[in-house]
Amino acid sequence: MQSTAQQESVQGLRRQQQQKNNETKAELQIDGAEHYLFKGVIGGNYMSPIKANNMKKCLEVGFGCGIWMMEMASEFPECQFYGIDLNPKTPENTYPDNCNFLKGDFTDGLPYPDETFDLVHVKSLLMYKPVEHVHKLLKEIYRVTKKGGYFEYKEPLRIKNAGPILNMVQEGWDIFLKEQKIDKDLVLSLDRVLLQQGWKDAALTTHLISVGESEDSASNMFYESWKKFSETFSDIFTTLIEFPRKEEFKKLARNDLEPECKKFKTGVEIAVGFATKRPISTN
Ligand SMILES: C[S@@+](CC[C@H](N)C(=O)[O-])C[C@H]1O[C@@H](n2cnc3c(N)ncnc32)[C@H](O)[C@@H]1O
Repeated sequence: MQSTAQQESVQGLRRQQQQKNNETKAELQIDGAEHYLFKGVIGGNYMSPIKANNMKKCLEVGFGCGIWMMEMASEFPECQFYGIDLNPKTPENTYPDNCNFLKGDFTDGLPYPDETFDLVHVKSLLMYKPVEHVHKLLKEIYRVTKKGGYFEYKEPLRIKNAGPILNMVQEGWDIFLKEQKIDKDLVLSLDRVLLQQGWKDAALTTHLISVGESEDSASNMFYESWKKFSETFSDIFTTLIEFPRKEEFKKLARNDLEPECKKFKTGVEIAVGFATKRPISTN
């Protein structure tokens, strides 16, 4: 028979597991919603001028649930897709044969030979990583990209026209970024950084997406997942911003976020860009 202390510790572990499951679910929802938003903005899964018959090997760093890789693998059946992620959240059995998912940490270096890939893709990764890690990753991406190959990135930047609730979230987020030594403006100058690092034809554009205001389903889906995300991560936000009561924050996120976004015409700014590695000189 278990003692009260043992029972309490089992219940504690169950609660922790439940919280972890909720967090994973919320992350998956927002990743999925973001995928369709970015796809809508750029009109497909990629912007780089890649040529289908040149696509032999492609890499995604931080593939998450793998949705981009799986869609691309179906679109380019002759190309092998490789992905590396610290915490993969891909389906266990059903995915295209040309998808190769690997659990790994890019800060240990990318485990692929020089000049392997025709396209390297990252989405919603650089914005969450300390500057030092981003620079290390960019060097590694350059190393593993073939001459004439492309690097493409898509990142959410920040909330625009926030009302009181989202200002609270943004405030907490800014503290978190500072603590983690994350430079929230780095992505905005990534085209220049890439040119300095030897890439060419670097292009970067930003777009403002309305959150839940318009009738289009991707925007609403994004809003719903965001609401869930704010509720699930209320512990983190309320700790960071010292908001007095967690439950109050959850209620605000659940009930008041939608009218607030409509009233303030809230949007989220995203950045998308790509660059190419100089081909071998023909002179
Ligand atoms: C915000 S999610 C984005 C996932 C996916 N790219 C998407 O947009 O749906 C960031 C992903 O990067 C992965 N990640 C974070 N740090 C990493 C690291 N050091 N090495 C490899 N993957 C990492 C996380 O596990 C997570 O799946």
